[in-house]
Amino acid sequence: MKTLITEEQIRSRVFELAERIARDTSSGTLHVLFILKGAFVFCADLIRALSSHKLDITVDYAIAKSYVGTQSTGEVKCSVDVDIKDREVLVLEDIIDTGRTIQALKEELQKMGPTSLRTVCLLDKPSRREVDMKVDYVGFEIEDRFVVGYGLDCDEKYRHLPFIAIME
Ligand code: IMP
Ligand code: MG
Repeated sequence: MKTLITEEQIRSRVFELAERIARDTSSGTLHVLFILKGAFVFCADLIRALSSHKLDITVDYAIAKSYVGTQSTGEVKCSVDVDIKDREVLVLEDIIDTGRTIQALKEELQKMGPTSLRTVCLLDKPSRREVDMKVDYVGFEIEDRFVVGYGLDCDEKYRHLPFIAIME
């Protein structure tokens, strides 16, 4: 396993993302919706980075799953039981690969009538994109390598690592 992005690099990028997200939040309230499981570490850090920006923040989760091992199954299973009507929503994802997970989830959420729906991901693999999907905020663009750590797993392992590493 080889480190791709260090703990320190992640920390400073998360603060930059928080600043941009706060600047773009017009109502002063933000409903953060993180996608289980992978995004829980990123969410914990981002909401605390947002705390200095004087927003009213609420947090909820959605479940989306498309991967088994290191392969995308292509079929996305979403489970969203949230109240986002008339709210300014930020969907938080660990990594965008084909784009299918975030697209399927966005379609579900859009039907629920949020005031706005923005997306943030820590990692983006643009070369793998299969659907036309624009993410509002991206932490790091990476090459097409399978990565773990900082919430990301390979068959449920390595989520606890504080950095991002490439599986060899
Ligand atoms: P997409 O639907 O193909 O965009 O896949 C997004 C989901 O696949 C993410 O939420 C991750 O759970 C998983 N995923 C994609 N690439 C990786 C990776 O390199 N490491 C770990 N999980 C990944
Ligand atoms: Mg995931």
